[in-house]
Amino acid sequence: MTQKEIFVAHRSEFKERERKIVPHGNTEIGVYRANGKLYAYQNLCAHQGGPACEGLLMPKVEEVIARDQTYQGQKFNYEELHIVCPWHGWEYDLQTGEMVADRKFRLKKYEVVERGEDIYVLV
Ligand code: FES
Repeated sequence: MTQKEIFVAHRSEFKERERKIVPHGNTEIGVYRANGKLYAYQNLCAHQGGPACEGLLMPKVEEVIARDQTYQGQKFNYEELHIVCPWHGWEYDLQTGEMVADRKFRLKKYEVVERGEDIYVLV
């Protein structure tokens, strides 16, 4: 089966922590640049079909527990970014596309390639 390339953007037009949505047939693909890497997922939430890639991209929120087991609040982990579906808040790990609360659910992943200054998603 031959793969097709869909143009996403010129590298200089795609900044860190940015997202581009590109059309693909009857659906769309969300492409992200974050932490020096590129990721692409179908813009279709595994919950009820919402536009997951149109939601926020935010760092994982972690609970901080002290050695004496007392609760110290929460902090952001910028090493693990989450795509948050705007319909009901399901969160997906940007690196894998897995839903973080139940990793058997996931967004469909696509490969991203860079050719010179141009970025494409393979479909
Ligand atoms: S459709 Fe995405 S969280 Fe419900």
